[in-house]
Amino acid sequence: GTVQIFKMDMLKRYNFFIDVLIFTFVVHGNGPIKPEFNRFANYLADGWTTQNGCQACKEETISIRELKDDEFPTVLVSLFFEQPTPFAEDFLERIANLKYPKSRIDLFIHNKVEFHNKDIASFLEKYNDMYRSATILMPSDGIYEAAARNWAVEVCKQKNDQYLFSVDVYAQITDPETLIDLIEQNRTVLAPILSRPYKLWSNFWGAVNKDGWYARSEDYIDIVEKKKIGLWNVPYITGAYLIHGSLMEELRDIYSAENVEPDMAFCGGLRKRGIFMYATNRKILGHLVDYDNMDTSHLHNDLYQIVQNPYDWKLKYIHENYSQSLELNRTLVQPCPDVFWFPIVSTKFCDSLVEEMENLNQWSGGRHEDPRLAGGYENVPTVDTHMRQIGMEEHWLHFLKVYVSPLQERAFEGYHSDPPRAIMNFVVRYRPNEQDRLRPHHDSSTFTINIALNTPMKDFEGGGCRFLRYNCSVTATRKGWMLMHPGRLTHFHEGLVTTKGTRYIMISFVDP
Ligand SMILES: *[C@@H]1O[C@H](CO)[C@@H](O)[C@H](O)[C@H]1NC(C)=O
Ligand SMILES: *[C@@H]1O[C@H](CO)[C@@H](O)[C@H](O)[C@H]1NC(C)=O
Ligand SMILES: *[C@@H]1O[C@H](CO)[C@@H](O)[C@H](O)[C@H]1NC(C)=O
Ligand SMILES: *[C@@H]1O[C@H](CO)[C@@H](O)[C@H](O)[C@H]1NC(C)=O
Repeated sequence: GTVQIFKMDMLKRYNFFIDVLIFTFVVHGNGPIKPEFNRFANYLADGWTTQNGCQACKEETISIRELKDDEFPTVLVSLFFEQPTPFAEDFLERIANLKYPKSRIDLFIHNKVEFHNKDIASFLEKYNDMYRSATILMPSDGIYEAAARNWAVEVCKQKNDQYLFSVDVYAQITDPETLIDLIEQNRTVLAPILSRPYKLWSNFWGAVNKDGWYARSEDYIDIVEKKKIGLWNVPYITGAYLIHGSLMEELRDIYSAENVEPDMAFCGGLRKRGIFMYATNRKILGHLVDYDNMDTSHLHNDLYQIVQNPYDWKLKYIHENYSQSLELNRTLVQPCPDVFWFPIVSTKFCDSLVEEMENLNQWSGGRHEDPRLAGGYENVPTVDTHMRQIGMEEHWLHFLKVYVSPLQERAFEGYHSDPPRAIMNFVVRYRPNEQDRLRPHHDSSTFTINIALNTPMKDFEGGGCRFLRYNCSVTATRKGWMLMHPGRLTHFHEGLVTTKGTRYIMISFVDP
């Protein structure tokens, strides 16, 4: 099985490797040297060299992107939801965004956890009709993981699909060209190399030990860190991979093996059958989400992933122009003296936070007596909900450190606060007949941040913030933008009357 990757003419040119080959035959019977030997083959015959990178990548590829829609190969896209996983709605949206005619895709979904019913239902509502067909297994069907994966192989065969693209919910496919790229690479089984951002955790192994478990290969880190770029023959892949449809008969029931998880059964089965698995890092096609011990107790659980999945959190919840304010050549926006204005969070963040607060529905009454505070008394009360009440206090302090502090360092140069402290972090709700304004006051903070969570003239009328000393108001607030101003002495301010609708703002008093 191992020898088929060599062409004899290559071997002739590389006498050295003939020696290696002979050597390998000698040890072959003694143990699981095969995967290691396959790995070694990645470098043979100029497969990969330091000067030219991956040569083998360019061999035996096909081209499909010029085809008409109805000429595209048919693909079974099978999606697996085996445990509660953050950013599932984003995962599904990215699958829907794959550049590939949906009329050439048969859909297969296995969902084992009730938690994801909602995500899948809204995905199907939007896109189901566009796909060629859909096979959906929900928790109520009671199908186990291995059986479901085997089922996908069966469906692929029945539908005569030319490929099976298997993706787990934790594998975020961010490049819409992924499916086309993988098909064009034309390999039997091919995984895009995905890793957890900032970590060495990935979806392939460079080597396996004699029991078929993980072993680190000498080139593993270089590949994960993309110091070596190419197409790699590897002994284990998981999370996302494309399988050629012609293999389906051979792969029947491959995910079931005694005392072995389905992913191990699959890769072990491929190795036993002598079917090569490849993994490619030629392009970054996506990344992995960390789903360990996901907290599922909230309405918008992804909001709480800022520490565990910082990369996805940033993509979803930070304003796309956030980093512009950090460019040193950029003049900061200053609507009033020493009041700075930054894009900071996405509209998704604003909507989710408001919904989380409304879902809790424990707004304070706007009275001076406030049992939530240490002193039990609030000098300038508002109708509000504290971050602590929705279990987001720690997350919010992290947000202040990671996203607010760098902006503060730019706006108020020379003031360092690491980590920034804040006891009062809350969303204020202004509306007529409830609380519609806030009388002039100082904040008990070194500086205050005030993030607009919705849009004037759309969600409400009136509103805004007026700084009395400067007779300067900010009324055309922008959703997702943050005002930052000194808290004490200089910036005596008031909340202007909201005359219609409901206005929401997020406030923190930093370094009280
Ligand atoms: C695709 O790969 C197979 C071998 O896996 C090869 O036989 C075939 O020629 C390749 N197609 C093209 C167009 O190179
Ligand atoms: C980001 O800035 C660009 C211009 O610099 C603008 O076109 C775009 O709308 C901004 N994005 C958002 C979400 O406001
Ligand atoms: C400002 O600096 C950034 C890099 O920090 C650069 O990308 C951008 O082009 C610069 N803009 C101007 C107007 O010079
Ligand atoms: C404050 O500004 C408003 C216009 O924004 C102006 O009509 C008013 O006269 C100003 N008041 C003072 C005391 O300058």
